[in-house]
This record gives sequence, C-alpha cells and structure tokens, in this order.
Amino acid sequence: MAYYRRLGAIPPKRHTQHRNADGQLYYEELMGEEGFSSDSSLLYHRYIPSAIVDATIWDLPDLTTTPNHPLKPRHLKLHNLFPDDLAADADVVTGRRLILGNADIRISYVVAAKESPLYRNSIGDEIVYIESGSATVETVFGSLNATEGDHVLIPRSTTHRWSPQGSVRAYVMEANSHIAPPKRYLSKYGQLLEHAPYCERDLHGPTETIVREQADVEVLVKHRGSTAIVGTRFVYANHPFDVIGWDGCLYPFTFNISDFEPITGRVHQPPPAHQAFEGDNFVICNFVPRKVDYHPLSIPVPYYHSNVDSDEIMFYVGGDYEARKGSGIGQGSVSIHPGGHSHGPQPGAYERSIGVEFFDELAVMVDTFRPLELGEGAAACEDTNYAWSWAGHGPSAT
Ligand SMILES: [Fe+2]
Repeated sequence: MAYYRRLGAIPPKRHTQHRNADGQLYYEELMGEEGFSSDSSLLYHRYIPSAIVDATIWDLPDLTTTPNHPLKPRHLKLHNLFPDDLAADADVVTGRRLILGNADIRISYVVAAKESPLYRNSIGDEIVYIESGSATVETVFGSLNATEGDHVLIPRSTTHRWSPQGSVRAYVMEANSHIAPPKRYLSKYGQLLEHAPYCERDLHGPTETIVREQADVEVLVKHRGSTAIVGTRFVYANHPFDVIGWDGCLYPFTFNISDFEPITGRVHQPPPAHQAFEGDNFVICNFVPRKVDYHPLSIPVPYYHSNVDSDEIMFYVGGDYEARKGSGIGQGSVSIHPGGHSHGPQPGAYERSIGVEFFDELAVMVDTFRPLELGEGAAACEDTNYAWSWAGHGPSAT
C-alpha cells in the first residue's frame, strides 16, 4: 500500500547511524515485500531483531480439508461453533476453527476472550473481520484498536498479539499472498482514486509505538513446510516490541465496513461494485446498507447467476439479507455458492423486491477463483437442508 506513514524516532537519512541518548546504536530492519522490489518499511530496534535462543515445533490446529463433493451450495451457522463458555478459553490466534480453504486462502472463525500469544503469519497477509466486540492489536509497528465492523489487515510476517476487551467474534481470512485495494481503484502511483468506495482517510494505522523490556519471549510463527502449513515456536532473547520508530508504506491498519461508500445504479450493480480488497486468486467485497436500483422497472435483488470461475462465500454480519430471506440464512451465517451451480434469490424474493428503495444488509464476501474445500469447522456447523432451499424440498420428500 503506497500510503506513507511514520511513527516515533527515525534518522533523517535512511541506512545511517541512529543512536539513543547514551550513544547506543539502534538496529535498522527493512520489512519489504517482493524481495526489495515493492512496498516496505524501515524499523529501528533497540535489540538485534534476529536474536533467537530456541526453536521448537508449534502444532497447528486441524487444517485438513475435504472437497465439496458431491457439489452442493451450503449454509454454515458459525455461531454454533463457539458456545459462550468456549470463548473464555479461546484466543484469536490458536482458537481459530478452519471452515474453508484452498491453495490461496483459508477462512476460519473464532470467538475469543483470552489474550493471544505473540504470533506472526509468514505465509501471507491476514484480514481479520470483527463481527462483534473489540480488541487491542499490539504489533511491532504499534497498537491498533479493533472494533465491530473493522477489517484488520496484518501484513505477512508482522509480529502481533490480540487482546480482546470482553469477548470478540472474528472472521479470519488468511491469504497465501498480499492483500491490497483493487488495482482499478489506484492511480498509477498508488493513490486511491476518486471513484474508489473509500480513501486513505478511512485506513487507520498504529498511532504510537510499543516498547517492552523482557527476556526470553515466545513468538508463534506460521510458515510453509515442504507440503503443508506448519508452525514453529521461537524464543527471542528480547521482546520483539522494541521498535522506537519506523516509516514506510508497509504496516497494519484497520478499515471499517461502515466507511465503505456503496456504489449504486438505476439497475442492479454486480458484485465488483462492492469490492474492497483483493489477493492472489480471490477478492473481498462489502455489502452495506444502501439505496437500491432506481430504474422504474428495476428488480433490486440480484439476478440468478452462475459463477463460472469462482466460489462465492458470503458472511452475513448485520441487517436482513433481502435475497436469501426465508432460506434459514441469518446473522453469523455463511453461504457457500460454488462454481458449477447457479444461485440467486429465495423463491418470492425476486417479486417482493420490486419497488423496494433501501436494503438494510451487511455482509462480507470472499470470491475465490479456485474451488474451496471444507474444514472441520464447516462440518461442525452445517445446515444440511440449505442445498434444497430453492426447491422447497430435498430428495427425501420426492
Ligand atoms: Fe451470488
């Protein structure tokens, strides 16, 4: 992201001596994407950032997946995964339950009240969407406040920790790539353009650095193995939160869904109008409360559509989703509408939407261009009747 930010004490010239009041040198670290050829930041540490004293295996939670076969549209009820008493023992990092995954992205869900371990994902960027509750996210770049409706974008390899205030519901999108605003909304130099549904003012980075003094500090690292995703537990000689200043264009930030300005039209606007972010082989869209189609003969709910090239995953987080009313979809639901199946409004919704001027709906959508497989969390909370919801009955009733 080409939006420059600086925090704390940095020297006037990069790669030059930077000392504290006692004359001690700070240690400069470049965090840079695509080698040294894309966005980066320079961080100034009190201690050498490479100093580890131990490395052991961190066993990750169950990340196995099974194909969506036989192919079915599916409905998951995520709130059933975490009864209230489980949240007290879960944290946002280790408590995640995988619901969907492929070679480009993993989607998981967690309800957590406990502080997480220090953690970084060295496989790709994460966007954590806060369905409800709030948390502080401490990072090497400084602290972020995460509240309901926030997308918290944590760049690859950013060491951080989640501290919920009470309990937080988090929908976690872990990419195997970077996540950024859609290219078509960026100028050739990287500024968000006038027709983008949000701008730099809506992106909230860290506001102050965090410096901790502690020896022998554990950090969990998710990384690539030879064939699968694996974890390592490092012990650092000093606390990784020792950065006294940094600047650059790579850092974590929050973006709230309420700042997504909807793009509307006389006739139905297709999902790309709702796009907020993109990664390799997937997009993330925001469906927000909005005035709807105003052509005198318009039909405001979507037309039926075959996603020829993608799986479409909708997470319903607020309001009442007009097109699927009556299908069982509600707050906390996820619908999976895969490639190879045509989907659209619930019977009756098409006609009922004529003349409606406003949709009060809130949803986060992920469209992937490779098929998603089902994680253990999906099997644990599926409404198995959903596939037949357009017909009104399944095979047992014929
Ligand atoms: Fe759709």
